[in-house]
Amino acid sequence: MNILVTGGAGFIGSNLLLQLVPAHPEHRFVNLDKLGYAANLASLEPIAAAPNHHFVRCDLADRAAVDAAFAEHRPDAVIHLAAESHVDRSIADPGSFIHSNVVGTFHLLEAARAAWSGGQHVFLHVSTDEVFGSLGADGFFREDTRYDPSSPYSASKAASDHLVRAYHRTFALPVKITNCSNNYGPRQFPEKLIPLMIARALEREPLPVYGQGANVRDWLYVEDHCDAIWQVFQRGRIGETYLVGGRNELTNLEVVRRLCHLVAEETGAPVGELSALIRFVADRPGHDLRYAIDPARLERELGWRPRETFDSGLRKTVRWYLDNRAWVEGIKTGAYRQWIDQNYGARVGT
Ligand code: NAD
Ligand code: DAU
Repeated sequence: MNILVTGGAGFIGSNLLLQLVPAHPEHRFVNLDKLGYAANLASLEPIAAAPNHHFVRCDLADRAAVDAAFAEHRPDAVIHLAAESHVDRSIADPGSFIHSNVVGTFHLLEAARAAWSGGQHVFLHVSTDEVFGSLGADGFFREDTRYDPSSPYSASKAASDHLVRAYHRTFALPVKITNCSNNYGPRQFPEKLIPLMIARALEREPLPVYGQGANVRDWLYVEDHCDAIWQVFQRGRIGETYLVGGRNELTNLEVVRRLCHLVAEETGAPVGELSALIRFVADRPGHDLRYAIDPARLERELGWRPRETFDSGLRKTVRWYLDNRAWVEGIKTGAYRQWIDQNYGARVGT
């Protein structure tokens, strides 16, 4: 099978391809990515020469380029991960989120609709729990939870989910959707909470916690998310949605404190020195209080279970960033530094 994976040079996409390419020589994986700031070809080095991995640089916002990629590579199936993914950047610059996440998904759907008639096809759209907005102290997101996005990012993902469902109902496109909670793990661009805090703790820079650090996220190790994507891709029902999460809720402050302990253990630094770097800074506008997934459908129908606990996954993650300092240094370039100054300059005086 020819499987087109979009966003395959990003965090989740690269981890997914590193799992799938060696394990499935019977499939050809076409990795389509525009190579935006969060993409990193260094993440794909172990599979760069694999005969069943083919990289294509393409911006989904460019309709002609998407059509050309479809015509050339003739995918039987799509796993659609490409998106602008950082909430804070969507507050600073919403337009790029509309182009990539809404218009880009539309172009991909149109290309699939034009190319596919009959036969065995799947269009798996990878989305987020942020489309549901914020929970209060109780309750869980389920597949029938009402959409209520708060940020330009989550609104753009909600719009893309609606388009994908509409293409199924109207044109019978064989779609599946996953909505996952917060991922962490190797190869994540250090703008997201966990890799940002690891990178800054190693440099003894202030650790900026929004508000009082009381917001809750439901953390899942990236490889467990990749397993879920592959299981839904293979065995999930057409037209269905599956929520993915690890039943692992923590406040942001708990996460940052655990990271201080782990980095201290792994490097021999005094934990007090790292914890003293924590700063409570101006909150994110429209900051959702709590996310929590009920993954019962995925567990019941497909037998999916996460393999990592938060402790084991977080330790692996810290070790990965320690063992791959060159990867981190390689991206601490203009775009990274510019974002740190823009988002945190006034907050913590970097
Ligand atoms: P990421 O930002 O690390 O990677 C996204 C990739 O998409 C990058 O390589 C980027 O270059 C590419 N891309 C962006 N716009 C593009 C365009 N117009 N054309 C082609 N490529 C483009 O993001 P991620 O964390 O790997 O997230 C991947 C997907 O998973 C996203 O759709 C995101 O909404 C979803 N998701 C992420 C999480 C999470 O916690 N990271 C959780 C749930 C769902
Ligand atoms: O829930 C799934 C979503 O998780 C994905 O769809 C997004 O692509 C992904 O980025 C992530 O979104 P969040 O906004 O939850 O992740 P982020 O790592 O940016 O922030 C996690 C929490 O930490 C959030 O409550 C904000 C807080 N935070 C974040 C940063 C970057 C801080 O307190 N300080 C920070 O510097």
